[in-house]
Amino acid sequence: MLAWYDRHRRNLPWRAPPGIRPDPYRVWLSEIMLQQTTVVTVGRYFDRFVVRWPDISTLAAASLDEVLQLWQGLGYYARARNLHACARAIVERHCGVFPEKAEALRALPGIGDYTAAAIAAIAFDRPGAAIDGNVERVVARLYAVPEPLPTAKPRLRALAAALVPDRRAGDFAQALMDLGATICTPHRPRCILCPWRSSCTAAATGRTEDFPARGEKPERPLRHGVVFWLTRADGAVLLRRRPEKGLLGGMIEIPSTPWRASPWSFAEALQAAPAAVAWSPLPGAVRHGFTHFLLELAVVAGAGVGAVDGIWSQIERLGDHALPTLMKKVARHAISALAAGPYASPTASAAKSGRSPSAASRTGANDRR
Ligand code: ADE
Repeated sequence: MLAWYDRHRRNLPWRAPPGIRPDPYRVWLSEIMLQQTTVVTVGRYFDRFVVRWPDISTLAAASLDEVLQLWQGLGYYARARNLHACARAIVERHCGVFPEKAEALRALPGIGDYTAAAIAAIAFDRPGAAIDGNVERVVARLYAVPEPLPTAKPRLRALAAALVPDRRAGDFAQALMDLGATICTPHRPRCILCPWRSSCTAAATGRTEDFPARGEKPERPLRHGVVFWLTRADGAVLLRRRPEKGLLGGMIEIPSTPWRASPWSFAEALQAAPAAVAWSPLPGAVRHGFTHFLLELAVVAGAGVGAVDGIWSQIERLGDHALPTLMKKVARHAISALAAGPYASPTASAAKSGRSPSAASRTGANDRR
């Protein structure tokens, strides 16, 4: 595996050249970014981060807002908040020096078992198995592990740990990552190029795609919400900050009802409106997939309001705020629906017929976004 890695390793921005000690800061930053995000997407963000904050102390000195802003588009914003908290913890608790052992790394914000093992191995060559989905797939195939995930996890972990060499643990961890990403892919793996081909049970029986074995996958439930697109006479739109804890914590949003399993009726949604103005449902709906649920947001528009607490942003300055991708979709949707308007007042359309805003809009042209 190491000989294969020496010839075929991917050239990635956070990797040190062969034989050079990697910078733990870059290893840690890349591993946090790579949680839930692909190598291709991370590349651009990684470069921007290291230009802006070249080491742990400059990142620790940045404000959370600056970090969230540069993180925009990477998703799973708790990672950015933990990144910032972790930088400060390393400066405050460890005098700005990364601890080397997985257990000590594990105690820091945003560092779980996988990330602790990956940093300890890659940055400090400490033997340990960094097991992510790619590694689980490689090992499940190598040994043709029959149990489906997640039941198979403890067994895969033990099997993977037994493979780690005493020397070059970091290269070995990255070799497995590269093998999983480029050769032992979920579909149509390129077994002919695999350095472990002669030892692989799944390949020997021609059953690579049967591993890891599949269990039943639960369907993601659908949740509904109604967003309030409120504009002022000067064209500014109302935003607010989400609570620090929970989904999209600390991010800026366009105000909405809570998100729940049943659709909202128009009248019911208005009870959560940020102002008592005439609200009009816009056609179409915004759909977004989170890890554990799908979300459908209807949008209602209102204008001509007095003083309302919140953050008022000119539409062309929306990009200055830490708006998550979902909220950017909402903004694009509202802007294009209003540009195509005008719409009947709520009393003339959805409210009278008792339709929910989302049901009223399901045939809208924007539905397919
Ligand atoms: N995925 C997670 N960490 C990685 C790394 N260091 N190199 C390549 N892919 C990865």
